[in-house]
Amino acid sequence: MPTITNIDDLKRLYRRRTPRMFYDYAESGSWTEQTFRENTSDFYKIRLRQRVAVDMAGRTTKTRMIGEEVAMPVALAPVGLTGMQCADGEIKAARAAEKFGVPFTLSTMSICSIEDVAEHTTKPFWFQVYTLKDDDFMQRLFDRAHAANCSAIVITVDLQVLGQRHKDIKNGLSAPPKLTVKSMADMMTKVGWGLGMLQTKRRFFGNIVGHAKGVSDPSSLSSWTAEAFDPSLDWDRIAQFRKMWGGKVILKGILDAEDAKMALKVGADAIIVSNHGGRQLDGALSAIRALPAIMDAVGDKIEVHLDSGIRSGQDVLKAMAMGAKGTYIGRAFVYGLGAMGEAGVTRALEVIHKELDISMALCGRRDVKTLDRDILLIPKGFEGDWQ
Ligand code: GLV
Repeated sequence: MPTITNIDDLKRLYRRRTPRMFYDYAESGSWTEQTFRENTSDFYKIRLRQRVAVDMAGRTTKTRMIGEEVAMPVALAPVGLTGMQCADGEIKAARAAEKFGVPFTLSTMSICSIEDVAEHTTKPFWFQVYTLKDDDFMQRLFDRAHAANCSAIVITVDLQVLGQRHKDIKNGLSAPPKLTVKSMADMMTKVGWGLGMLQTKRRFFGNIVGHAKGVSDPSSLSSWTAEAFDPSLDWDRIAQFRKMWGGKVILKGILDAEDAKMALKVGADAIIVSNHGGRQLDGALSAIRALPAIMDAVGDKIEVHLDSGIRSGQDVLKAMAMGAKGTYIGRAFVYGLGAMGEAGVTRALEVIHKELDISMALCGRRDVKTLDRDILLIPKGFEGDWQ
């Protein structure tokens, strides 16, 4: 077993062990992938202020996200098709998150169903929903999430239509994968993955197949989004979903201060500054660049989280110092999952935790809850001087 010291080590293993179609699905942004790349490269532009001779004993990374205690401010983001990256992937990731003490968010486009994850975990998890046309199906999702004891729903507001990711089209992405000469030749080289998949019955979109009506090809993300998603979504509709659910709501996919104010108005409990990992509007600002304007607009009135681009504990530290109250990892945990299953997700969390803790200490801070911009060196014009 190779020694894993960082998230890139997991990514290399993941790439070797997972069919290309699913690696590409995770590792893509839309169109030119500019936003996807800048989500990570913009973090590097921010530097940290080293401080010395400061008491670094008794440090803590514990805090709260939407009132729930977390071992560190890093939740697992909802990622579609996680159970295709590794057999029973959502169950494994949820278990790793639970043991580590961080929130797990189950995607509607998961392979393991809400009920599967609830059955294999003991603590409440979060459930992500898209904004769909079919009210009956939405209500059933909410009812199922309540029955599974989910403590919050995360409503994705930036995917009324699907951003184009070229590789998914070229690969003919589906769950389960269609058996073509190309996909079979690739899958035959991913023996561990294949054995796992043969041993599980969970190979379809577990929340959709058998639950949603009028889906012509339930194995395809693109056909489902084209048919079921609501292109006429507005804030009233979001308020309606909040009522239908009746519990805590996190709105995911806010990138603009005006939208953040609207999220506040509809009574969200938290917002996630996110551009969907660079998978939706290519050319949009990176999440970390978008954060300051949103903090200025609503930061003292609503809990602001950040997703998109987090690959290290240093990224978490920077987002928290800029005012976020929590962050999410998507790809970073998927790399671990595809590399080593549940143990790989645990390893990803351990890596990020250590990076966060040590970097925080070297900045002369002991408590993740009291971080502020004072530890950062942010280049002038970082937010951009746009017209
Ligand atoms: C789904 O939300 C995706 O980004 O593929």
